[in-house]
Amino acid sequence: MADTPQPTNAVRKVRKAVLPAAGLGTRFLPATKAQPKEMLTVVDKPQIQYVVEECVASGIEHIIIVTGKGKNSIEDHFDHAPTLERFLEEKGKHDQAAMVRRISDMVQVSYTRQKEPLGLGHAVLVAKDLVGDEPFAVLLGDVLIPGKNPATKQLIDVYMATGVGAIAVEEVPKEKTHLYGIVDGEAAPQPPFGARLLRIRDLVEKPKSDKAPSNLAITGRYVLPPQIFDCLERTKPGAGNEIQLTDALRILAEEQGLWAYIYDGVSYDAGDKLGFLKATVEIALLNEELGAPFREYLKNLKL
Ligand code: G1P
Repeated sequence: MADTPQPTNAVRKVRKAVLPAAGLGTRFLPATKAQPKEMLTVVDKPQIQYVVEECVASGIEHIIIVTGKGKNSIEDHFDHAPTLERFLEEKGKHDQAAMVRRISDMVQVSYTRQKEPLGLGHAVLVAKDLVGDEPFAVLLGDVLIPGKNPATKQLIDVYMATGVGAIAVEEVPKEKTHLYGIVDGEAAPQPPFGARLLRIRDLVEKPKSDKAPSNLAITGRYVLPPQIFDCLERTKPGAGNEIQLTDALRILAEEQGLWAYIYDGVSYDAGDKLGFLKATVEIALLNEELGAPFREYLKNLKL
């Protein structure tokens, strides 16, 4: 498709992130019948808080959450909770009060609504005016990537060094390509990123294994130039009759170039029941307070 990606934007700081959170969560019924999937708790925090914390750890200053009907508890979670905070203070629980306050103070959050479920690409397009003419990150709320080296920060580093958009990819088993966007990439090693950097030749949304160009799957973390909005506006409904972000990325890759970056980390698809269980167990094992006793419990479990 395109030649070596060339920056077309003066490289600007990545300050904003879009978190699409309008989906109905049908993979997780009945838990999601009356509560947003983004608010399901993994160990001691709702999923979306992990994603917001990844943004903050990556230097993002303004998060735009794209919501829909029934998602009000997300807004409440990132808002001040004066009654709760006062109650905790009065009981002498100052640490807990500070923890509750930190959630609402860590970053600026704006909300906009996707009025119809027209697809991930459409959800990102809904944030166009709030993002404006600057590069931004996209993080999918049901993909959790714990660890000290945030995937979004890794992509921002690629963007800042090259001025070209970058998306996180990872290897998946060949028989699972139909669950992901799959990348056709060509090794384009360059310091300091080495062999993790690939030039994207093409991308396909959810191909069957015999049609997949590789087993490199799009993970749910993207850093994109503002031109993606123009690409999204030109994108016709694709897989599932939805406006797919992956299809707009094909246009972007062709016109401006796009990197796939084999990020350092492990992702969990917490929007899927088994992925959610894996995330819960592994994040619990990493938890400072619970990790040791939980490991002991698992070791002694007789099933
Ligand atoms: C979305 C994207 C897909 C990506 C996946 C990662 O699909 O469309 O390209 O690989 O997220 O989780 P979804 O899982 O929302 O159907």
